[in-house]
Amino acid sequence: MKLVFLGPPGAGKGTVAEKAQKDLAVPHVSTGEIFRAAVKNGTPLGLRVKAVIESGALVPDELTIELVRERLGQGDAKSGWILDGFPRTIPQADALEGFDPPDRVVDFELGDPAIVERLSGRRTCPACGRSFHVKFMPPAKAGICDSCGGTLITREDDRIEAIQRRLSAYRAQTAPLIQYYRGKGRLLTVDASPEADAVYAAFLGLPGMNKR
Ligand code: AP5
Ligand code: MG
Repeated sequence: MKLVFLGPPGAGKGTVAEKAQKDLAVPHVSTGEIFRAAVKNGTPLGLRVKAVIESGALVPDELTIELVRERLGQGDAKSGWILDGFPRTIPQADALEGFDPPDRVVDFELGDPAIVERLSGRRTCPACGRSFHVKFMPPAKAGICDSCGGTLITREDDRIEAIQRRLSAYRAQTAPLIQYYRGKGRLLTVDASPEADAVYAAFLGLPGMNKR
């Protein structure tokens, strides 16, 4: 199964993908996580994209397309994947059609007030990448990652100015992909507004999502 997760920032794509990679037995490929890991490790890619992702703007298409093409060519991605955060522009979607088209595209729908509440309350573990929420998914011990014991932080792009920029980028560059994939007959939709377990159950109930 080759799945693209579409939806505005904070809709819960990463939260669903973390669980789904186990249930569907395919790797979770998040371009945002790849970029954040590169920034944290100070690699040449990280130095190149740091300012862009922290501001909430999009990384240039050519760079992102090449990164995904290379990642999907790796052995663990041969029989399927969940792409979370890619494609995010029409040129990225056209490129993906050329080298590895998705079987289905799941659009997670959420309104702006909920987006802002989810992003401003998110806390992320820089060590293992897991996300929590101060109100909706609090860790057992405040400020500490349940999975690895790391100290939770607020992502630079979860500050209010960056959230607004991400929402603008989403509307202008990513939302047109809904129509793009609907036109290809591959779009599925999930209401992302209920609590996380209900969203996940709705996702697993979509056609073709067979648990392994
Ligand atoms: P990326 O990391 O992809 O960020 P994003 O799309 O803005 O999405 P988020 O990760 O913020 O949200 P999410 O939908 O995964 O929500 P989550 O599950 O965490 O990209 C970051 C940046 O990298 C971009 O801005 C760009 O610069 C660059 N980039 C990445 N891909 C690119 C590309 N293809 N092209 C160009 N640039 C690219 O949930 C959010 C919060 O809500 C969490 O706290 C969670 O605990 C909570 N939550 C989740 N579900 C629920 C629920 N049902 N109820 C209540 N709370 C919930
Ligand atoms: Mg995410």
